[in-house]
Order: sequence, then structure tokens, then C-alpha cells
Amino acid sequence: MGEMEKRWSEAQTKEDAFWQRNGVLGTEMERVNSRYGPVIREIERSLSADSLILDVGCGPTCSAQLFGKGKKTYLDPLMASYLKTHSDRLPEGEKITSTAEEIPKPEKSFDVAICVNALDHMIHPEKALMEIRRVLKDDGIFVLGIFLHPAPIAMLRRLIEKWLPIFREDAHPYSYTVKSIRGMLEKYFSIQKEIRVFRKDSAWFPSLHREDWMFLCGKKQTGTRAK
Ligand SMILES: C[S@@+](CC[C@H](N)C(=O)[O-])C[C@H]1O[C@@H](n2cnc3c(N)ncnc32)[C@H](O)[C@@H]1O
Repeated sequence: MGEMEKRWSEAQTKEDAFWQRNGVLGTEMERVNSRYGPVIREIERSLSADSLILDVGCGPTCSAQLFGKGKKTYLDPLMASYLKTHSDRLPEGEKITSTAEEIPKPEKSFDVAICVNALDHMIHPEKALMEIRRVLKDDGIFVLGIFLHPAPIAMLRRLIEKWLPIFREDAHPYSYTVKSIRGMLEKYFSIQKEIRVFRKDSAWFPSLHREDWMFLCGKKQTGTRAK
């Protein structure tokens, strides 16, 4: 196992323990509902009853369940554990235990892929974006929800991750800013809308808190850098 895989595996053990704590699912469901619900309902208007929707890194909150239409597939490397711990709370739909870096589906399978608060938890986020693009239909929509940091905080977090691992935040191996996530996304997708869905009020100016953003994207077509 490589260094990155080892670091990820340790983070996943903690992630699993987090989701088994009492009351966590209810609180986190409120976050998903209040922050992503309005955007999801907006997208839903362009979908049909048989639209195929993939939720990548769905956790037990399964944001895609907020789409009032469509057939859902939920993918998470911890799915087997969520099925044991939260069997009564998981929505209907296909459940897959897998990482996003290798999605066990043929290309152009889905009309929508949603990935909320999961990309910065992954082993290879860029590989995951390529996989999401692969399984998305040509006219499909990719919805990314992600926590983003002010540039100095992101830089500090990257330095800590590399040089002072004792102080790192275990769950998030990667730290992005609005600019850096745009740069990575635009290699594979065309960003159509950016929405800041949560910002914590801060006594500091400028705020040093992370913000929660959503990016609505189309698939970048061939002839561009993405394969
Ligand atoms: C903070 S949780 C978010 C869950 C849910 N999307 C939400 O917003 O409540 C991060 C999720 O990403 C999943 N994850 C971690 N690494 C992943 C990977 N390589 N591929 C797909 N999902 C991954 C974790 O198992 C976990 O369920």
C-alpha cells in the first residue's frame, strides 16, 4: 500500500466511526437539506422520471435522494458499513461499495452525477473527476459540492499535511480554494454556475473560515484536454 492509500485508509476508519455516532446522521441531513436542497430542486426541473443519477461519495446522507425524480445509484467505499449501521435510513436505489477513482459502470451511463463533500476526502481527486466524466452522458450534468478555504488557509493546510502531519485534519487530505478547484474542474468540465451555499460569519476580516460551494458543470467535449 502506498503512502497516500495508507493515509486515506486511516482517514476512512475515522470517517466510518464518525457516521456511527449517535445523532450525527440527523444533524448532517439538516446540512444536506438546507445547503444543497434548493440547488438540487432547481436542477430537478430539467430531469425526467427515468433520469439516471449517480451520487459519488454519498455517505449515509445520500444527497441524491433530494432529487424528487429519477433512478438513483449511490456509491461510497464505506457503503457496506452504512448498509449495516443505517439500513433503516438509507433511501431506495442501487448501492455500490466502491471508490470514485474506479466507478464500476460503463461510460455514458448517467444523466446526472452529484458529489457532495467527498472529493477532498479521496485518494486521487483528479482521477475521480475523470471517472465521473467518463460515466456521464454527453449532455449530462455534474454537481460538485465542496468546502473551499481562503488561499492563505489552504496553503497552511497543505504545508501542515506535508510537513507537520501530527497537526493535519485527518478527514481531508486535500485543501482547495475557489481558484484551485476551478482550475482542476475546468480540465474535464465546463462550469456553468457557481453558488456559495454556506458562509460562516466571522469576527475576522477577511473571514478565515471555509465556505461551502456548489458548481454546476457540463461535460467538456472531445477536442479539449479531457479524454
Ligand atoms: C464527509 S462524507 C460526505 C458524505 C455525504 N456526501 C455528505 O455530504 O454528507 C465523505 C464521504 O466520502 C467518501 N469517500 C472517501 N473517499 C472516497 C473515494 N475515494 N471515492 C468515493 N467516496 C469516497 C467517504 O467514505 C464518505 O462517505
